[in-house]
Amino acid sequence: MRKKLVVANWKMNKTRDEALQFILQYNAQDIALENTEAVVCAPYILLRCLVKRQGQSLKIGAQNMHYEQSGAYTGAISPALLQSTGVQYVIIGHSERRNLFGETNDTTALKLKAAYDNDLTPILCVGETAEQREAGKAREVVSEQLSIAIKGLDEKSIEQLIVAYEPNWAIGTGKPASKEDSNEAAVMIREIIKEKAGKGAATNVRILYGGSVDSKNIEEYISTSDIDGVLVGGASLKVSEFAEMVKIANK
Ligand code: PGA
Repeated sequence: MRKKLVVANWKMNKTRDEALQFILQYNAQDIALENTEAVVCAPYILLRCLVKRQGQSLKIGAQNMHYEQSGAYTGAISPALLQSTGVQYVIIGHSERRNLFGETNDTTALKLKAAYDNDLTPILCVGETAEQREAGKAREVVSEQLSIAIKGLDEKSIEQLIVAYEPNWAIGTGKPASKEDSNEAAVMIREIIKEKAGKGAATNVRILYGGSVDSKNIEEYISTSDIDGVLVGGASLKVSEFAEMVKIANK
């Protein structure tokens, strides 16, 4: 049975004080999670202080990392550094990294491998742009992103993967993908995993939907057959909204 997952992506938001307040308010609610995991992916500089306050009902993750363990990469953060903060999860290949910072399918693949080598659980983001969708290329783009990313991984690693389908046009726009379209993408992702890594991996891999998710629409996605959770940006910044989504997933 796949555990549900609600992941917050804070992006470049919140000061240290705001982040601490969020965690204290969230923890004060004493949410008992049964079949759900909740994760907050915070800016690097906040990770250590948030990890100290994580518990059964909330884990901390990072939003990106470099694929090298160390070296002359000014301003970058290595997987080894992330691991030393105590985080368990890391988002890899978010569309903002791809579209604004020039990350490619190949660098995403290197990062994915580096995450496993450092005992971090990667949340791999895939998804097409509006232009690619209009050109009828959505499936092709997502399939290529996923296939290149998992190419060098063994079946055991692929089985533990979390894939987030995030159509770029749905991110931060208030226009989420329909539950039918997002589930169709999730089914396709599971099929690709099955082809590359077998039935066991396809059954166990967790697939999230991301793009304008909030407490009003989360249920639509998690009630589908192949979507196991959500990756949430804007709506995850308010503690009441995030806690509500976690509670709905945990029902
Ligand atoms: P959004 O962002 O929820 O604000 O649309 C999602 C994401 O970028 O992961």
